Amino acid sequence: MNNKPIGVFDSGLGGLTAVRELRRIMPNENIIYFGDTGRMPYGGRPREQIRKIAVQNIEFAEGFGVKAILAACGTISSNAQDILANNETRTVGVLTPGAKELAETGFKRLGVIATATSIKSGAFQAEISRFAPDAEVTAVACPDFVPMIESGHILRTDALVKKVVASTLEPLRAAKVQALLLGCTHYGIIAEAINDYLPDTVLVGAADASARAMKRYLTDTDALSDGECAESYYTSGSVEDFVSLAPILLGYELKSAVLFTPPAPLEDDV
Ligand code: DGL
Repeated sequence: MNNKPIGVFDSGLGGLTAVRELRRIMPNENIIYFGDTGRMPYGGRPREQIRKIAVQNIEFAEGFGVKAILAACGTISSNAQDILANNETRTVGVLTPGAKELAETGFKRLGVIATATSIKSGAFQAEISRFAPDAEVTAVACPDFVPMIESGHILRTDALVKKVVASTLEPLRAAKVQALLLGCTHYGIIAEAINDYLPDTVLVGAADASARAMKRYLTDTDALSDGECAESYYTSGSVEDFVSLAPILLGYELKSAVLFTPPAPLEDDV
């Protein structure tokens, strides 16, 4: 047993989809969540900035004495794979768990959607091909999804959501993709709208897959918690926005106050 917290981070609220799954499958864990909303979106930033952000966010989480970290962000997972893999505190990303679960569907026409910087890295495509070498992979960047979601447009009935989903995902419909990886943790939030547009496609959430990978790691290392369920939340952006949207994404009320922490500086280093 290990009752130390798990640190989870993302650019904003998208990583809460991973927290929701962590909570569902491991009810006794203490989770510390950091949404870097002050620097969101990550998805159009250059790779070197993303790598710097990865190091900063890991350091932030480690400041709480965490037993493990979940980088609940496709952009970081695909551009800083080596940084996560080599970190002393075990750091699980969404890339490998997501690609593996997509391949496990057994379909041969696969797709992945993620941020522009994620798709540009080629990491999702490579990881999917590693697990499913015979599959044809269609990769599509969705630069409009995260700003739309963070501004509260999430419902399948929302006209903007429908329009943006249809105009962005058309290549996947054309390719008759059978299973699609949601390679950005924000995208699970609009899964219903994606499903409406691609009704014959099986959706695989990288956020959910990463939560399951975390559970496997904690189980294998006998590090699950038997303590009280607890959550703490930090944001580098608007506390008010976090408080109003987060319960919708989590599916339950926030378990503590949301605290502001200033965005870490980037400019000197890139
Ligand atoms: N949710 C993150 C991801 O999985 C970041 C999205 C963004 O900030 O652009 O990629």
